[in-house]
Amino acid sequence: MNNFTLYNPTKIIFGSGTIKDIVKEISKESKILIIYGGGSVKRNGVLDEVKAALQGYDIDEFAGIEPNPTYETLMQCVEKVRNQKIDFLLAVGGGSVIDGTKFIAAAVNYAGEPWDIVKSYGRGVRQAIPFGTVLTLPASGSEMNSGAVITRLATKTKLPFMNPLLFPKFSVLDPTKTYTLPASQIGNGVVDTFVHITEQYLTYPVSGKIQDRFAEGLLLTLIEEGPKALTDPQNYDVRANLMWCATLGLNGLISAGVPQDWATHMVGHELTALHGLDHARTLAVLLPAMLKIRKDDKKQKLLQYAERVWGISQGDEDARVDKAIDKTRAFFESMQVKTRLCDYGITAEAIPTVVEQLKAHGMVKLGEKFNVTPEMVEKILGLCLSV
Ligand code: NZQ
Ligand code: ZN
Repeated sequence: MNNFTLYNPTKIIFGSGTIKDIVKEISKESKILIIYGGGSVKRNGVLDEVKAALQGYDIDEFAGIEPNPTYETLMQCVEKVRNQKIDFLLAVGGGSVIDGTKFIAAAVNYAGEPWDIVKSYGRGVRQAIPFGTVLTLPASGSEMNSGAVITRLATKTKLPFMNPLLFPKFSVLDPTKTYTLPASQIGNGVVDTFVHITEQYLTYPVSGKIQDRFAEGLLLTLIEEGPKALTDPQNYDVRANLMWCATLGLNGLISAGVPQDWATHMVGHELTALHGLDHARTLAVLLPAMLKIRKDDKKQKLLQYAERVWGISQGDEDARVDKAIDKTRAFFESMQVKTRLCDYGITAEAIPTVVEQLKAHGMVKLGEKFNVTPEMVEKILGLCLSV
């Protein structure tokens, strides 16, 4: 197992009816800005519940954070926070709203050009406005980590950054608030969580036995509970397990002391920035091809994954690995998430631009062995087209 430091200060408040508990976490003197997206929190009553809990507080709102939050919109909110001397931010929504809030928190008092926060991968952040979250879409894990992914429309750039100052002070996870998610977002959430886990698990063995078992348990839960959320969306236990799975999938626990990949995510971000695909759908397309092309590097963990997650232990090694990859693709499709570029109208002509964008963003040695080159990505994308 590799050396590691694990730090996670976020308080999780979990369960039905917990939104009201936010008052225990925010001082009465705070000037609060409630930040949300396109209006789902208005339609599903979550915003009213938050505002009812904050009766008597000095609150204001900022609406309009897009899916795949954009720098251009976020900077409008930064100005509002500066002008109104807001001192506490409350993100109410999914990963896009929470990521956008992290950027805002970091940008308000940032000395330089705010986009440099993203370009420097968060290294230049010295202070952040405190913030909490009320999560309505389990997927990104942003509710319990210090990372975010921001898009700059002007340059069709979507990049991640992180900084320890950007952990939420608290996050409320009420599974009943996910009942209004459309099937497409239920599928996105399960697939995004699944690939977060494989990015931290399907690499090479370092005797991280606890991390492996933990990751495998999360994967088995997604496989068991994911389809149920589509057929029985108001089943509290199903939604509670999926919500907790998503948070544990990217809060530092399963990545501590083990190698991490993230090539699928980095290429996926380019597909979203260039073609507008939902984040999770880029991952569903890329992961099977990534595993096929890179199976020699990942062989031992793929065999372990085949046996412990899919119960495949017979047959020659190559056949077992291929079967596990096919099972993975079939699972994504069972969550109503298509897994081929042609399903999204993307053809071979699109591949060179994706590769060029990766190079432009310095993403030229990706993966746990830093050997996923633009040339390899070109091959991987070719495999994503339709076979
Ligand atoms: O616009 P609103 O009203 O917010 O509606 C949203 C949006 O249209 C809707 N929605 C959310 N909760 C709902 C709901 N609709 C009905 N009922 C509810 N309870 O769903 C749509 C998608 O929301 P979004 O926040 O974009 O989805 P998600 O949570 O999947 O977040 C995706 C973003 O997370 C980033 C992605 O890059 C993407 O920008 N990620 C963040 C990570 C992190 N911080 O660690 C890691 C991830 O890999 C990921 O990259
Ligand atoms: Zn993701």
